[in-house]
Amino acid sequence: MAERQKIVAGNWKMNKTFQEAQDLLFDIADQLDERGKGDVNVIVCPPALYAELATDLAAENDFAVGVQNINDHESGAYTGEISAPMLASMGVEYAIIGHSERREYYKEADEFLARKVRVALEHDIVPIFCCGEVLEQRDAGKQNEVVKEQLEKALFNLEKEDFGKLVIAYEPVWAIGTGRTATPEQAQEMHAYIRKLISEKYDEEVAESTSILYGGSCKPSNAKGLFSQKDIDGGLIGGASLKADDFVELIHSF
Ligand code: 13P
Repeated sequence: MAERQKIVAGNWKMNKTFQEAQDLLFDIADQLDERGKGDVNVIVCPPALYAELATDLAAENDFAVGVQNINDHESGAYTGEISAPMLASMGVEYAIIGHSERREYYKEADEFLARKVRVALEHDIVPIFCCGEVLEQRDAGKQNEVVKEQLEKALFNLEKEDFGKLVIAYEPVWAIGTGRTATPEQAQEMHAYIRKLISEKYDEEVAESTSILYGGSCKPSNAKGLFSQKDIDGGLIGGASLKADDFVELIHSF
């Protein structure tokens, strides 16, 4: 079973040209070299196109590389797609699965995401599985129900040993890219609930060793409040991961 870790992961989404990506990666590497990263596991998830660039630098600079999506098949006639074995062969160690943007724009549902999670695990790629409710669901007080269903359908079919390898990211959709962050209390409440669900499904040991990240307008000005919560193990960062200063500051926000 994986150890519970402090994690700061940057989800670049569909941003940066090759030159810009190179500059940002070098800037992050330089700043990590200067400031260190303590006991934080730093993960950078650029567009998959830049995986080689990132894994080359990551090897020398003590950060890991993830991608933002993965196909649910190992190989074959799936035009335009990228498989887990391909990514693993490039040194990619993590894959974001089930991000709300993929759920919304590409209609990815939990049963389909369950297959992506399995294929990633089969190739030693750690899924960073995203869950979270939209605003109407939060306003209706249904956030726990929604997250429970996402976890049950996409993850709780895994054996304990496999579940123990995952990272979970709680990303309330109403907080993504909106500047409206969940309060530390709102986030803590959901993270504690997720841990309770894991404990009920598997056991206390699995629940306590699972890293659960918060995502949604997390930035240097609010990260300390979030990261100091008992059940928040770090962040999955969008906008603020596109600036090296902010990203590295977040790594020093525990
Ligand atoms: P923002 O940090 O830009 O709100 O994005 C969060 C996110 O979606 C990370 O996956």
